[in-house]
Amino acid sequence: MDKVKSDIGVLGLGVMGAMLALNFAGNGFNVALFNRTASKAQQLKDDNPDLTQRLFAHETVERFVAGLARPRVILLMVNAGSAVDEQLAVLRDLLDEGDIIIDAGNTDFNDTRARNARFDGTGIHFVGMGVSGGEQGARHGPSIMVGGDPAIWTRLRPLLEPISAKYNGSPCVAWLGRDGAGHFVKTVHNGIEYADMQMIAEIYAILRDGVGFDASRIARIFESWNQRGLSSYLIEITAAVLAESDAATGKPLVDLIVDEAGQKGTGRWSVIEAQKLGVGATTLEAAVAARSMSAQREERARASEIYAGLQAVNGRFASDGEGIAELEAALETAKIIAYAQGYEVMAAASVEFGWDLPMAEIARIWRAGCIIRSVFLQDIMAAYGDAGHQGNLLAHPAFAARVQKGQAALRSVVARAVTAGIPVPALSAALAYFDDLRRARGVANLVQGQRDYFGAHTFRMLDRDGVHHHQWASAEAEAV
Ligand code: 6PG
Repeated sequence: MDKVKSDIGVLGLGVMGAMLALNFAGNGFNVALFNRTASKAQQLKDDNPDLTQRLFAHETVERFVAGLARPRVILLMVNAGSAVDEQLAVLRDLLDEGDIIIDAGNTDFNDTRARNARFDGTGIHFVGMGVSGGEQGARHGPSIMVGGDPAIWTRLRPLLEPISAKYNGSPCVAWLGRDGAGHFVKTVHNGIEYADMQMIAEIYAILRDGVGFDASRIARIFESWNQRGLSSYLIEITAAVLAESDAATGKPLVDLIVDEAGQKGTGRWSVIEAQKLGVGATTLEAAVAARSMSAQREERARASEIYAGLQAVNGRFASDGEGIAELEAALETAKIIAYAQGYEVMAAASVEFGWDLPMAEIARIWRAGCIIRSVFLQDIMAAYGDAGHQGNLLAHPAFAARVQKGQAALRSVVARAVTAGIPVPALSAALAYFDDLRRARGVANLVQGQRDYFGAHTFRMLDRDGVHHHQWASAEAEAV
C-alpha cells in the first residue's frame, strides 16, 4: 500500500491521459496511474525517470483508488461514450462522499448532463471538462473548460491552474457553468476549429489551383501572415505542414497526403446543436460538410471524369502582392464571421440550458493552449468584456469596422473562386451569413407565403397585428 497518497488519479493512459499525468507530476503533484492495460501505468513511470517520484502505477482499479488522498480526485481520459459509463460504474462503488470524478474526454455534453444528473444526491461529484491543445497541450499546458458544481471548482482550481496553459501569466482554465457547460464549450471550440481549418484550406486551394504556387511558396505566405492579424497556432502549423518534405521522395509531404479528412465527431456535434438551437452556424456547417465531401473520394474521382470538359477559368487570381494581400484580408474577415457564429451558438445554449456562459472568460482561456489559440481572441475578450456589448460579435463597433473594411476582399475572393471553379464552401458561407445578417428585408416572406399556401401554416404581416391564413384562390382551384 502506498505510504504516499496521490493528489490526483489519472485513469486512461492513452496519449492525452498520459500527457496530462506527466503534466500534473511535472507540476509537483503525486499522480496515481491506472489503465485497463495495466502495464501501461508502469511503462509510463519507467519511461519518465525524471518524474518517477511523482508517479504511482497501480495494477488494479481498487489499488488505484486506495492510493488517492481523500477526498479523492480522479481524472478519466477514456474514449467518449460507453467506455466512460463502464468506468463510472466501477468507480461509483469504490468512492465515498466528497470524491470527484472528472471526465476530461471529448464527450457529448448531452451525456455529461445526464451523468451529472445521475450523480446528483450520491455525494460523489461528476465534472465534465473540455481539454484542448492536443498532445503537446496536454503535456505542457492545455486550455481547460470546466463544467459542473461551482463549489467543486474551488477544490479543482489549485490542481488545474498549475497544469493549464498561461497567457501572460493568466491560467487558461475556468469554470464555465453547471453540468455540461464545459463539454459544450469544448464542442463549439471544435466547431470553430473545423471552420478555421477549412477556411485556411480554401485559401490554400486558391493559391495552389488558382494562382499555381507550389507548397513551399504557399508555406512562406502563411508564415508571413502569421506575423500579423492572422497570427495563430493553426496558421503557424499550416506553414509548417506546407513546408515539410517527404524524406522518401523529397517532394512536399502535403502533396502526397490523401485528401480525405477524418473527423472524430466533435465538430459535427457543434453544428447539430446549432441546428437544435435554431442558430445559423453556416460556416461551421460548411466545414463539417467539406470533411464529409472529402471522404467521398471515389465519387469525386468519377465526377471529375464526367465533368472533365468543364475547364475552370484559372488565372483569375493575381499572384502579386495586392492579390495575396486580398487573400489575407478575406481570410481575416471570414474568421471573424466564423467565430461570431460559434459565439452565437454558445449564447443560445447559455439561455437554453441556464448556464450564463461567461463569453469574455471563454475567449480569455482560449488565448493559449487550445487549437484555436490566436492573437484574435484578445480582441474577442475585449469585445465581450465591454459592458456595453450584448449579442452578435459582428454588432460590436470594433468588429463591425473590421468586417466593413474586409468584406470587399472576402467578396472579391469568393467571386473569383466561384468563377474559377474552386470550391470555397466555408468562405462563401461566411460571406452569405454576413450579407444575410445585414439585410433588413430578407426573403422569408415568400417562404411564409409558400408554407401558408400548401400547409395553412399562417404568417404575420407588416401592416396589421395577428397571424393570418390567406384563402389562396388558385390553391382552392387546384384542390377541386
Ligand atoms: C483539441 C482538438 C482535439 C480534436 C482531436 C480530434 O482541442 O485538442 O480539438 O480534441 O478533437 O484532435 O479531432 P477531429 O475532430 O478533427 O477528429
